[in-house]
Amino acid sequence: MTAAGQVESKRNAGYRAAAMVEDGMAVGLGTGSTVFFAMERLGERIAREGLRITGVPTSYQAAIRARRYGIPLSSLDEHPELDIAIDGADQVDPGLNLIKGRGAALLREKCVCDAAREVIIVVGPTKMVDTLNAPVPVEVLPFGVAGVSRRLSLLGAAPVLREGVKKDGPVVTDNGNFILDCGFGAIGEPRDLEAAIAAIPGALECGLFTAYKEKITVIVGEETGCRVVSLH
Ligand code: 5RP
Repeated sequence: MTAAGQVESKRNAGYRAAAMVEDGMAVGLGTGSTVFFAMERLGERIAREGLRITGVPTSYQAAIRARRYGIPLSSLDEHPELDIAIDGADQVDPGLNLIKGRGAALLREKCVCDAAREVIIVVGPTKMVDTLNAPVPVEVLPFGVAGVSRRLSLLGAAPVLREGVKKDGPVVTDNGNFILDCGFGAIGEPRDLEAAIAAIPGALECGLFTAYKEKITVIVGEETGCRVVSLH
């Protein structure tokens, strides 16, 4: 797919997701380039239709974009239950297990995903895979990074501390933590791996999302239109 085609596929997925938002909803706003299109369309709906929504952003980046599009913002403190969340993903398998976290927002993204009654994942077609095999980002307490790295190696990973771009040294997340990108190769049992990582002290969250398939709908944008994948 051409670069222009990829942009169109993201736009189509994002716009379809925005059409699923109803008046009065509290909406989780994910991070990344595909969700931006959903936010753009939500901003248009607010301006043109008078749509009333409250957004709960998953990152500084999401908050900055949402403000630009005129989406009123709140927090999980005010809205511990959300009507819907819209987010991107790095890989999606046929069982709707996800890898997320390229943008290092996975910890707040999982909190928002957990809080939402319905989760819309917006992706381009290249994100759909038979077996998850991308590196799994793990958000790590800086105090524990060496020990967590050792434990992740024992699980079969080759952890790499994520480095900043236009910033020397490690990426520091919106929560003040580090990211270890962990290549495991093909992940046969993502749910077991997510549980094993969650059991490591100092590993605050990982980018495997395996517990939400019942409430997830994936919108796969194509150059023209989209297809919708869900297990319900
Ligand atoms: C950020 C994420 C993003 O949602 C994911 O990386 C997809 O981003 P994009 O839509 O730009 O491909 O998990 O932490």
